[in-house]
Amino acid sequence: MSDQARIQELESQLEQLESQLMQSQKMGSVGSLASSITHEFNNILTTVINYAKMGLRHKEEATRNKSFERILAAGQRASKITTGMLAYARNTSDRQEPFELNRLLSDVMVLVQKDLQMHRIGIDEDLQAGVWAKVNSSQIQQILVNLIVNARQAMGEKGRLKLTIRDNKEEGWAEISVGDNGCGIPQDQLQKIFDAFYTTKKADARGQGGSGIGLSLCRKIIEAHQGRIRVESEVGKGTTFTLKLPRAESPAGLIDTSAA
Ligand SMILES: Nc1ncnc2c1ncn2[C@@H]1O[C@H](COP(=O)(O)OP(=O)(O)OP(=O)(O)O)[C@@H](O)[C@H]1O
Ligand SMILES: [Mg+2]
Repeated sequence: MSDQARIQELESQLEQLESQLMQSQKMGSVGSLASSITHEFNNILTTVINYAKMGLRHKEEATRNKSFERILAAGQRASKITTGMLAYARNTSDRQEPFELNRLLSDVMVLVQKDLQMHRIGIDEDLQAGVWAKVNSSQIQQILVNLIVNARQAMGEKGRLKLTIRDNKEEGWAEISVGDNGCGIPQDQLQKIFDAFYTTKKADARGQGGSGIGLSLCRKIIEAHQGRIRVESEVGKGTTFTLKLPRAESPAGLIDTSAA
């Protein structure tokens, strides 16, 4: 085999390994959210069981209708979570297409909301509506899950997560940022955080986290989008990561419902 052919073979193997790593990191992040999601399902089931009992006990139509409504709402909430989980885990294509950032973020929030709530983290949102970017939505969701889990891990009690979506027309970016008021990152470490296997964390009791691949994959994904990832941080004050993604015009004829 010629050197050229050998290099090509190695390159294609590397590409394959990278995409496998990305998929397994994604499944790992689903794993780290599993306990909070199970908790959420328990709450939903408690609601369903209690309202089913109430409906069986009470014969009046009004009470029964109310019970059915509560059961339906709980079922729909559960279905939204499982649908979101499956869509997140299954989507392995690398196609990029116009996607509305509000919708992308709200799909992510379905997965991480309970985890944030269990850690008593408040959420501040400043979300411009109707901002479209040309992205692979599943990959950008993976970045956001990573950034939000990192933010959560950096914050103690009274944590506040700040989510922003902005149409930066001047520079041609659709921007989405994740900020926290956590421990911050010292200046001399800022260079290293995107390196593979760089971590300051220890694995938790379940052996999860602290592999140091989260941000290195974020960088890879952003590179594949020809975007940018920026970080601003102050020790003791907090950290903000901003994703700059190629803007896309909202597809013609599509009515923007995100502001509703
Ligand atoms: N929001 C943040 N606040 C403070 N430090 C952060 C934040 N995000 C990342 N870091 C620092 O950057 C390091 C690398 O992050 P990265 O997500 O790549 O790996 P990790 O979170 O340590 O491990 P993994 O994501 O594989 O579980 C972290 O260990 C931490 O020191
Ligand atoms: Mg991480």
